[in-house]
Amino acid sequence: DTVFVLNGPNLNLLGLREPEIYGADTLDDIAGMLEDRGQELGLDVDMRQSNHEGHLVDWLHEANADGARAVLLNAGAYTHTSIALLDAIKAIKVPVIEVHLSDPETREPFRHVSYVGMAAVDCVKGLGARSYIVALEKVAAL
Ligand code: DQA
Repeated sequence: DTVFVLNGPNLNLLGLREPEIYGADTLDDIAGMLEDRGQELGLDVDMRQSNHEGHLVDWLHEANADGARAVLLNAGAYTHTSIALLDAIKAIKVPVIEVHLSDPETREPFRHVSYVGMAAVDCVKGLGARSYIVALEKVAAL
């Protein structure tokens, strides 16, 4: 079974970007950890990142068409703005788990709304890179 792990804007800069908030691990580091944990859980991980909202929409559709087991979605700032992502999650059958490195609820008020969260089946946040691992473990339990 394949799990799509979709990452939105600015997450290509992980490791460099505000490490006091997001940690020192790069997206490649996280991809490696997910692959290892996925192997233990019997899950193939397809890790992707884009700074473009429409790519994330297309990949949600692709996960559905491919019959992916689940999607882990860290939509970055699009979490807080994107009705298009909300609609895409509602449009597909594949369960989507929302993921964040930080805990947006404890940050600026504009991060407190999550359109992704309105349709996602679950959310893991505030654990740094471990948020992704815990989310993958939740997929194995779905
Ligand atoms: C984030 C939280 C968002 O508010 C922010 O815009 C990001 C990263 C996180 O993983 O903590 O880009 O999704």
